[in-house]
Amino acid sequence: MPRLGVNIDHVATLREARHGIEPEPLFAALICEASGADSIVAHLREDSRHIKEGDVFLLRKAVRTMFNLEMSCAEQIVAVACKVKPDRSTLVPERRQELTTEGGLDVAGNLSRIKKVVDRLSRQGIAVSLFIDPEKKQIDAAVKSGVKMIELHTGRYADSSTQKEENRFLAQIVNAASYAKKKKLRVFAGHGLNYYNVSRISRIKEIEELNIGYSIICRAVIVGLSKAVSEMKELIK
Ligand code: PXP
Repeated sequence: MPRLGVNIDHVATLREARHGIEPEPLFAALICEASGADSIVAHLREDSRHIKEGDVFLLRKAVRTMFNLEMSCAEQIVAVACKVKPDRSTLVPERRQELTTEGGLDVAGNLSRIKKVVDRLSRQGIAVSLFIDPEKKQIDAAVKSGVKMIELHTGRYADSSTQKEENRFLAQIVNAASYAKKKKLRVFAGHGLNYYNVSRISRIKEIEELNIGYSIICRAVIVGLSKAVSEMKELIK
């Protein structure tokens, strides 16, 4: 059974809707760990639109399972990561206007730049993973970059609009996971996974960890709403 990494970015998205102090991502991280999450994931974007630099320092101190910092290769973010020293850095592509990470990192097209960042983070004792599309070319480039682990982008599978399309994208992930394993890489996966599409991915034996954020936070709002309303009614009474 793959381990579960919970991405808590969207707890911070709610906080930033009012630029306030709640909900607190650290508090959420501790609840996730207490409920069985095997690691905590947060993405410090260059525009700090949800998770902020202060959050990652707090998370680093408090997370007891494994802290996985998602980040771009931008100099200022790499400098923060070298100070924070997460257990793992997952390098992702980043575009300012995107709603969420679109597509994997083009390792093949940017090998020397990415290798420099991998080397720099590795020297700090940080394990480095690359978030890539399920393609041979990207897996081969990941091997050349010196990483020991990759995360396969499941977004196209998750966004499929027909069963045929879903089957095709699933097959790509299955083949990529098996190819990467043969190349001696540890294989993780994530993006867009939810309560309906996770089971087909969790059956792929080479994938040892799934990283899931948005759907878990969405579900938390729905399943927690009844309790939240009852508590407020009690206070009003
Ligand atoms: N893995 C990576 C590398 C990501 O960038 C993201 C999104 O931040 C996720 C997993 C989680 O994706 P989602 O929020 O769609 O579950």
